[in-house]
Amino acid sequence: MHNNPYLAHLKPLQRGAEPSSLSPGDREPLYGFLPRNVTGDQIRKAMEHQLNPFTKQPHSAQYRRILEARKCLPVFSQMDEFLEMLSKNQIIVVVGETGSGKTTQIPQFVAYSDLPHTTGKLVACTQPRRVAAISVARRVADEMDVPLGKHVGYSIRFEDMTEPGSTFLKYMTDGMLLREAMNDNELSRYSTIILDEAHERTLATDILMGLLKGLAKRRADLKIIVMSATLDAFKFQSYFSLTHSCQDPSPAPLFKVPGRMHHVEVFYAQEPEPDYAEAAIRTVLMIHRAEDPGDILLFLTGEEEIEDACRKIKLEVDDLINTDPLSVGPLMCVPLYSSLPPQQQQRIFDAAPKPTQEGYPPGRKVVVSTNIAETSLTIDGIVYVVDPGFSKQKVYNPRIRVDLLIVSPISKASAQQRAGRAGRTRPGKCFRLYTDKDFVSELQEQTYPEILRANLANTVLELAKLGIKDLVRFDYLDAPAPETLMRALELLNYLAALDDDGELTPLGALMAEFPLDPQLAKMLIVSPEFGVSNEILTITAMLSVPNLWLRPPDQRAAADQAKALLAVPEGDHLTLLNVYNSYWQNKSDRSWAWNNFLSARALAQADNVRQQLLRNMEKFEIEIVSLGDARQRNIGIRKALVCAFFMQIAHREGEKGSYLTVKDDQIVTLHPSCSLEIQPEWVLFNEFIFTKRAYIRTVTEVRPDWLLELAPGYFDLSMLPDGETKRALQRMTNKRGGDGANSHSGKGDKGKRKTS
Ligand code: CDP
Ligand code: MG
Repeated sequence: MHNNPYLAHLKPLQRGAEPSSLSPGDREPLYGFLPRNVTGDQIRKAMEHQLNPFTKQPHSAQYRRILEARKCLPVFSQMDEFLEMLSKNQIIVVVGETGSGKTTQIPQFVAYSDLPHTTGKLVACTQPRRVAAISVARRVADEMDVPLGKHVGYSIRFEDMTEPGSTFLKYMTDGMLLREAMNDNELSRYSTIILDEAHERTLATDILMGLLKGLAKRRADLKIIVMSATLDAFKFQSYFSLTHSCQDPSPAPLFKVPGRMHHVEVFYAQEPEPDYAEAAIRTVLMIHRAEDPGDILLFLTGEEEIEDACRKIKLEVDDLINTDPLSVGPLMCVPLYSSLPPQQQQRIFDAAPKPTQEGYPPGRKVVVSTNIAETSLTIDGIVYVVDPGFSKQKVYNPRIRVDLLIVSPISKASAQQRAGRAGRTRPGKCFRLYTDKDFVSELQEQTYPEILRANLANTVLELAKLGIKDLVRFDYLDAPAPETLMRALELLNYLAALDDDGELTPLGALMAEFPLDPQLAKMLIVSPEFGVSNEILTITAMLSVPNLWLRPPDQRAAADQAKALLAVPEGDHLTLLNVYNSYWQNKSDRSWAWNNFLSARALAQADNVRQQLLRNMEKFEIEIVSLGDARQRNIGIRKALVCAFFMQIAHREGEKGSYLTVKDDQIVTLHPSCSLEIQPEWVLFNEFIFTKRAYIRTVTEVRPDWLLELAPGYFDLSMLPDGETKRALQRMTNKRGGDGANSHSGKGDKGKRKTS
């Protein structure tokens, strides 16, 4: 017998076990497959085989149905060329229109070629968005006729749907792969890594490209595929070019999937629209009344806007139907955004409603989505696209150290992608709610890569953990702004994660082990020093889940009242703790969350996150402790908060309820959702947000002496600019007699660890 694991599936069949008329190929769908030397003919034959090669079960009827649909995808007919290019090259770049089958098919072709189930290695395909990772993994599991989470799985932060030993095709967020790289620089578990949606240029994908480029030189057996929707692939090709000695580098080969796009007619607004959300609703209704059957895709910027639009569209259509049942057909409005529960996300694939009676106008589906539907998810049947021209973009301002999500104009490239969604199945129409003049003069060509506009604190810590010290000379596709890098280094230095030479400290190494922002990780690690790690663990978990508080438009007062009953006077962080504890105390009462206008799903998610972080803490022997005395506990929690978030402090200015952020001098107000009863002089905030004005959200009262005690390096009075903040701290120092209290956040602090 051979020992080569690649050939294990070729083992001779037991004689006499089955009728000899069956050839080996009848019983073994992958008979004769040689890893990375597999032909399209072989794969197509295996796909038609009556047995599923991975489960050895007969293929289901659904499998056959989906297979027929897959055969129509442009990628499918290019299987042979793809396999050939893959076997000849280590790195390839794939481009193709959205919907051509890149994300769902290419990883399967690779799986048939790598045969990862026989080698114990995995094929990974990264996605910038969690929603896409889940949705595509589910689809591909169906396509391969295997249970999701077994042979095909997904991995996103706080949710691992894979089975060690069984999963060989894994969809995962780019951030998750980056985290894995921190603990295994060689990414040795993988035979092929596919970076999908590379055109999105997320921070994690950009960093992964740099890492994989280096790794390719060390691991000749690793294949790398970079997939992108837009046609600016040359940037990726030349970045991954091969340098042969004494020769000019040759760009990485390009595998181009021909588009099969129908014509999309584009209409522009005559005049700039003052209110794009209102104009969008109006346009959807106009299409529904006047245009031929076909589904509509409307792009809006966020959850609230989307839910609001869905509600309004539905009301208007119901109104029309009630007045005259023959005026329009039924309309199904489906929202799509990242924090939507997965089952509800699936609804975008439901068919449009049928006419209410025979002979009545046909029904239509409207999907109201964030950017998710721009390239990462394909919805079949879309004929009309409504594009207001905005999306929410993450922007970091290094000068004031603030991360913001801002509704900003999209790029021309995005606008083109959006329009393309209308021409998937037949000729379509795209309604742009801006003028053609604005399209030409106001929209930039491409969306800026995230690395040029994001806070890099997390990334710098991850790179340090990866052993990459020279951040300036790292091989970036686009190098970040030096100021942003400096700010990240400075923050990590203040947090004592990096020392003055930029070396990772033991505390920093530990912080990098937590799937959290550096501040939150630090807060967890130091919390036992204050005797409150049990509580800080809860607060961290609660801060990690979105949309906890429900505030239905018709029950706002009742929701606010319920919230007030759970509020803790010292601040929102303590309120979050109280909510979680009350949730636990009332666990037997299934309607508790509902009665208190809280999302049961968010609470369950927080519980899940808490358990995972708890396992992390146990692994690194960070004690779980709690103080018996409520007052001491309350103070301990707030001190632990200060230890991590001392750079997010604001001081009350004047009488009008406004605050000034310390050092950066931004004028802010407490967000209306804030549960503080009074306006304390000093507050710590979790978030700075900017809508019509600047707000701080999730706010807790702190004392100025804690700032001096716990972050003396940061609150060095000689370095603070003159102003009310400095004078207030000065008064504090004078009162304390200028004693040099010991530091918890000072450099070299390792956080308390159990010594057992
Ligand atoms: O990656 P790319 O945009 O090239 O295409 P894809 O995501 O692989 O999608 C190819 C086709 O698979 C779509 O047109 C859909 O028909 C189908 N699909 C689906 O039905 N459900 C999903 N969750 C994803 C894809
Ligand atoms: Mg795709």
